[in-house]
Amino acid sequence: MPSDNLRFTDLANPSVLKQPIYEPGKPIDLVVREFGIDPSTTIKLASNENPLGASPKALEAVRSFLDETYLYPDGGCYLLRQKLSEKLGLAPDQFVFGNGSNEVIELIGHAFLKAGDEVVMGEQAFIVYKLITLLFQAHPVEVPLVNFTHDLAAMAAAVNERTKLVFLPAPNNPTGTLNPADEILDFARSLPEHVIFVVDEAYAEYLEDPVDLRPLIEEGRKVICTRTFSKIYGLAGFRVGYGYCSAECASLMNRVREPFNVNAVAQVAAIAALDDDEFVNASRECNDAGLQMLTNFCKENRLSYVPSVGNFLLVNVGDGMRVFQELQKVGVIVRPMAPYGFPEHVRISIGTAAENQRLIATLQTTLGLS
Ligand SMILES: Cc1ncc(COP(=O)(O)O)c(C=O)c1O
Repeated sequence: MPSDNLRFTDLANPSVLKQPIYEPGKPIDLVVREFGIDPSTTIKLASNENPLGASPKALEAVRSFLDETYLYPDGGCYLLRQKLSEKLGLAPDQFVFGNGSNEVIELIGHAFLKAGDEVVMGEQAFIVYKLITLLFQAHPVEVPLVNFTHDLAAMAAAVNERTKLVFLPAPNNPTGTLNPADEILDFARSLPEHVIFVVDEAYAEYLEDPVDLRPLIEEGRKVICTRTFSKIYGLAGFRVGYGYCSAECASLMNRVREPFNVNAVAQVAAIAALDDDEFVNASRECNDAGLQMLTNFCKENRLSYVPSVGNFLLVNVGDGMRVFQELQKVGVIVRPMAPYGFPEHVRISIGTAAENQRLIATLQTTLGLS
């Protein structure tokens, strides 16, 4: 019999033992089990998903594709690559695809990070940048936000000869704030040659006028942009995202990815979703109206919030954990923000009009508002 003296933990790569664990938004099923509540009236406003569901064109394409799923997917995502290449006016070899943009961020780590590298990021930026940095035993250099917004001057000052990557979400999750386009471009042009600038555009399709980083790539600057089908296209469960950059950079990232990292169904869904302008426009309108409804509610009730250009709102409710717990007991799931250093806040994803009403009603009760 083997002894208990040597455990798997003793054999683990020591950095794995220090690796923090990502806490996702709580799924509806889990909350229903925990609190014994009715699944049909439980709503999730916790992971910035699309409240209108998945793109109908994507779903239609997927339904007629299911018989093909006994075959491996196209590892190179040929059709999706062609489609995006036409849409964005970039060469097909300038793309890299991932199991969500999360995987693309990890591929950046695989391709470029080594132990001891420094990675500059906002202190309250999307937490995956820090997790990926630690995964590769690199060092996160966290720069505090100012007014809930990335402080580009302070980030520039944090860059040194050990810096390998700088992450900037445009806009940031969880704050919903966006740096002005001209400042992002100036910042990119000010970075030294040995620094790779990663701009996370997960919510770009919600913006009226997203910053265009393609000129930077054309100028030969070291820029990688990441995007996702999880948000406005409503395909979070399919898991598909992409990065675009120079062909040289994309080929390095392609070396380190698993051969069939984007499943065939996700590829079919993403291709069809790119043609679903009607759904994208409806999603944007639903989001604008919902943001307006929630910000009006905050103003009327003197709750401070961070003006957002994303599909979520960071609201100061006094005690974020208490409010999160009270809301989930009545079937409304939001996200407590203590892990981001905002213990007084919750982040609320924008829902449908009915979901937003429900959120407002439950918040009124929980916060004792009239
Ligand atoms: C800023 C930001 N980047 C990236 C992601 C990852 O999205 P996905 O892996 O679903 O593409 C998210 C998800 O919430 C996000 O908020």
